[in-house]
Formats: sequence, C-alpha cells, structure tokens
Amino acid sequence: MADNEDIIEELKQKRAQAQLGGGRKRIEAQHAKGKLTARERIALLLDEGTFQEIDSWITHRHTDFDMDRRRFPGDSVVTGFGKIDGRTVCVFAQDFTVLGGSFSEVQGQKIGKLMDMALESGVPVIGLNDSVGARIQEGVYSLAAYSELFWRNTQASGVIPQISVMLGPCAGGSVYSPALTDFIIMTRGSSHMFITGPEVIKTVTREEVDMETLGGAAAHSQTSGVAHFAADDEEAALALTRQLLSYLPNNNAEPAPVVPPTDDPWRMDKALNTVVPTDPGQSYDMHTIIERVFDLGSFLEVHAAFAQNAIVGFARLHGQSVGVVAQQPDVLAGVIDINASDKIARFIRICDAYNVPIVTFIDSPGFMPGLAQEHGGIIRHGAKIVYAYSEATVPKLAVVTRKAYGGAYIVMSSKYIRTDLVFAWPTAEIAVMGAEGAVNVLYRKQLKDAANPEAARAELAAQFRQKFSKPYAPAASGHVDDIIIPAETRPRLIAALELLRDKKASLPRKKHGIMPV
Ligand code: HXC
Repeated sequence: MADNEDIIEELKQKRAQAQLGGGRKRIEAQHAKGKLTARERIALLLDEGTFQEIDSWITHRHTDFDMDRRRFPGDSVVTGFGKIDGRTVCVFAQDFTVLGGSFSEVQGQKIGKLMDMALESGVPVIGLNDSVGARIQEGVYSLAAYSELFWRNTQASGVIPQISVMLGPCAGGSVYSPALTDFIIMTRGSSHMFITGPEVIKTVTREEVDMETLGGAAAHSQTSGVAHFAADDEEAALALTRQLLSYLPNNNAEPAPVVPPTDDPWRMDKALNTVVPTDPGQSYDMHTIIERVFDLGSFLEVHAAFAQNAIVGFARLHGQSVGVVAQQPDVLAGVIDINASDKIARFIRICDAYNVPIVTFIDSPGFMPGLAQEHGGIIRHGAKIVYAYSEATVPKLAVVTRKAYGGAYIVMSSKYIRTDLVFAWPTAEIAVMGAEGAVNVLYRKQLKDAANPEAARAELAAQFRQKFSKPYAPAASGHVDDIIIPAETRPRLIAALELLRDKKASLPRKKHGIMPV
C-alpha cells in the first residue's frame, strides 16, 4: 500500500506534467515566436508567489475529429487569482500551446467560474488573451461558451474593472470579449485582433491584406481605436496592466484609490502663466499643462495615439486618482470630431463607473465641420460627450484655458451639465463661435456691400474678439465660478476636490438611459 509521501509525490509529478500544457515542443514553439507561456505571463503579472490556480485538471469531453486523443489537463486556459501590489485580482491566461488556445466549452466554463467569483468578491478581472477563436471541432458548444462569456463581460461591466491584454493572434470571439471589457492593451508585432483573418477575407472579398496591417497594435491603437495602449513587448504590457490598475478601485462600491502624496499640493508652476499664446491662431501642447498641474510623473495617457486632437488619461492630484479629459490645440486645433467624441465619452463613463473624479481642460473651436463628419454621424457621436458628462455623478471640475466656442463650451463640462466648479484662465474666450465665422454670419449683407470687404471683415472680427476674448463677462454672470491665475491651478483643483470628496448626486430612477451610440 502506498504511503502518504508516495501519494503526495504522485500529485507533484502529475502537477508538473499538467503544467506543461500542450507539451515541451509547443512551449518551445511559443518561445521561438518570442511569446511567453500562459503561466510565465501570470507569474510576471502578479506579485511573486501569490498565484492560486483553480480548475487545473479539467479536460474537454469531445470525441469528434480525433479530439479524444487531444486532451490536456486544464484545457486551453489557465485560471486563478493572486495579487497585484497587494490587491487581489482574478486572472485567466489562454494557453496557445493547447490547440491554439482555442475557445472551448471547458475554457468557457473555467473563465465563467472565475468571473462569477470575481463579481461576487468585487475584484478586477485581467484576461491574458492568446487564442485562435472558437474551437472549430466543438461546433455549437464553443459558440455557446462564448455567449456565456460575453454575457458575463456585460454583467460585470462597470462593477469590476476588466482589463484585456492581447498577446497573440486573436480572432473571432477572442476579440469580442475584450471589446466588451474596459481596457485593451496590445503588444507590438506579436498581437493581432480581427473578426476575420486574412485567409477568410481573401476568399470573401478577394482583398489581400497582411495580419499587421489588418489588426496589429498600430492599426488598433492609432486608427480603429479598439486598443487603448500599445506596448513594446509582453513585459511592458504586463507592467502597464499593473500601473493601470493602480488608478482604479477594486469595484464600483469602493472610492478611487488615494496613494500617499509625493508632490507639494501648493506647487504653483509659473511656467503655466505663459503656456497659452495670446495669439489665438497659435497652438500649444496641452500635455505641458497636464504634466505641470497634476502630481509630477503621475499622468498615464489612455488612447494616446488615437484621435490625438483629444487627450484622456489618469493622473493623481495630491495622491487622489483622477481622470483627465482635455483638448489638444496642437492637433487639428483641438476640434471635436467623431473619433475624439468616442474617445472622450467612453473615458468619462469609465471614470464615472469607478468613482474617479474628472478634471477637464478646454481649448476647442468646437465640432468639426464638413460633409465627411456630418455623414459619419458627428451629431450622434458628439452627443455622447454631453450625455456622458451629464450622466456622470462623480466630482467634475473644469478649466477653460482658451477657446470654448459653441458646442465645445456646452458639452465640455459647462456648469449647466452639472460641472461642480468651472475655472477660467484669463486667456479664456467663451463665445458661440469663432470671430471669423460669427462675423460672416452676422454681417453677411454689410460685407457684401462694403467697399473693401476684407478690411471690413478684419475690423469686425477684431471687435468681436475684443468682446468675447476675456472671461470677465461670463464670470460676472456666474457662468464660470472664478478666473484664476494659471499657476494657481493645482492648489485650486486640490482644494475643490477636497470639498467634493463625499459629493452625493443621484440620477432619476430608470432601467437605463438611451445613450446615443
Ligand atoms: C481549433 C484551431 C483554430 C480554431 C487554429 N487552430 N484555429 N483549432 N479551432 N478556430 C489550431 C491550428 O490548427 C493549430 O493547431 C493551432 O491552433 C495554432 O494555429 P496556427 O494556425 O498554427 O497558428 P498561427 O500560424 O499563429 O495562426 C493563427 C491564426 C490562424 C492566424 C489565428 O490559426 C487562423 O486564422 N485561425 C482561424 C481563426 C478564426 O477564424 N477564428 C474564428 C473562429 S469563429 P496545431 O495542432 O496544428 O498546432 C469564432 C466565432 C465567434 O470565434 C464570433 C463572435 C463574434
């Protein structure tokens, strides 16, 4: 009869074998592609020695297509929980060495169990994705498992943070689950996302396209906006995941994290006083302002390469996690177009869902005019921004640095969509539209009849600008709460956040609103 030590030895051996996933050869093939295995990735992501695996013995039950000879303990995903900076998170990592990480009935059951636990326990879920999509051999079983996952992604949305890290060729369903999560991080060169791969595209549309152009990190972080971050390699992607999580609470019932402050709350950076050029035709980089106002080095830009006429990201103010939304005068003069609308609206909703106060910096000539934008639906896309701000009940602060023309004034955190405090810099210009456009509308007849229309237009525009180029009139009518010296911005925002820390605001009872999409 075997003694206890033999029994434990047997378990150890079986466990070591199970941890090889699809076997040594496939692990070597994974490494040869410059990719880590599922378990190596989890070890890099979590605090050392904290990973607790579950369901490592489960196997699939299918027999067609020779599948009874292709069973691996744990099947094509590793699931469990562990810690990041001492906070518990649930994590799954698809195992490409097992049938390409294909999404099986069992993979669905494992991730489903994990997500149920995460939701009940109120902890974030991080998915490390490396999967060819639905397992073809299982037919409707794998498809149904995807439905279960998408349903859970949706139930958990806005309750616990969900972060998707893309680390391999992800097709079909393995891109739709990430699309339902809060953030997508892709590795450059080794991760791809597409609904249909190049082979299928060729047969359907005869279009020839390579994987990188179709769905690489550049395509999705710059053009489609599907990915929020692109990282140089797996280590960088996993480090970024840890950093991102540090700005978010574990769940929507917790306040946003506050870390011990590292920067002087009274720091008044004089350089801020001269950042905004007095010539309204000249641009400047809004990053200069963000970097100088928030705790030094704390700004983590989200969607940095997509719709660069807008800036969104997380930062800290005296240790308090905040969301930053801004226009970028250096790109398209900070105009609001379709992509910028989607980027801003989505970010506001994420901040509001996770109790992260929002600080907005405004310098925009308004919405982008033109046929392409109108036909692309700028009306319904732009409406998302005002909807998201109006719906958000977290503390909301705004600083008008220069232009707040028309729609840009209204939708970007004006007082009447319930921004708690709106500050204006002395360079702020609040008007229905820019001087040239306004003069063309108001004085069309006079300009037509004028002896020298150009000189008349220039003079009228100068008069118009004179009237609206200073924020004293909006402040006199209470449309802005104060005019502040730019260098004072940091202590003013910190004091305002302290006031609003326990802000209580509520929405009318409803099942849910009909957000324009
Ligand atoms: C089962 C699959 C598979 C699949 C690939 N494999 N796709 N097994 N189901 N869907 C297997 C391969 O046979 C191979 O097994 C292993 O996984 C690795 O695949 P490779 O092709 O060798 O890898 P690579 O060269 O890196 O190419 C990856 C790939 C390609 C570009 C993703 O495999 C591919 O195009 N696969 C099809 C992807 C796809 O169309 N999926 C969508 C499914 S539909 P061996 O044993 O040889 O190593 C879907 C429905 C949901 O997901 C839709 C919701 C919107």
